[in-house]
Amino acid sequence: MKKYQFGEVMIGKEELQQRVIELGAEISRDYKGETILAVCVLKGAVLFMSDLIREINVDTKIDFMAVSSYGASTSSTGVVRILKDLDSNIEGENLLIVEDIIDSGLTLKYLKDYLLARNPKSIKICTLLDKPERRAADVKADYIGFEVDNKFIVGYGLDYNQMYRNLPYISYLEEVTKE
Ligand code: IMP
Ligand code: MG
Repeated sequence: MKKYQFGEVMIGKEELQQRVIELGAEISRDYKGETILAVCVLKGAVLFMSDLIREINVDTKIDFMAVSSYGASTSSTGVVRILKDLDSNIEGENLLIVEDIIDSGLTLKYLKDYLLARNPKSIKICTLLDKPERRAADVKADYIGFEVDNKFIVGYGLDYNQMYRNLPYISYLEEVTKE
């Protein structure tokens, strides 16, 4: 069993709040006069999504999807499974997929193609975090909160074995190496 310990705070509470306000303003400008259907990718994006939509001042509906990519491990398997699909019909809607982090990009690539097949009017991706170093699939976010280094991130929705999602800041876990 590997052991992990917390690293430093990478992105503090105020910095997160400030960036979410900026993203909300940018999205509001881009979608002026339109209605957004914000799709939260469970569970990691829950905190980000709930803060973000409060900063969006155009009509916004919300829906949720759950996909599994990881299981209880810190590296991607590339296998994407739909655990919960959308409740709404998305034909003609302006979809804004809200994610916590793009790592390999496999999850979002799959999700975007999957949703595109249902003929939305438009589809864009907003991710809180981007780990470009690890990208394997050809997918880009339209809105990015922060670029992060290749570390295992926890907090503000992001988990390790379902823990630490409630931290109000972003931190990371590092492996404890025995002397
Ligand atoms: P991807 O398919 O490799 O891009 O992985 C996407 C999903 O894996 C994200 O939506 C997260 O739920 C999870 N994930 C990727 N990197 C991290 C991390 O550093 N911390 C916590 N979860 C992560
Ligand atoms: Mg996720």
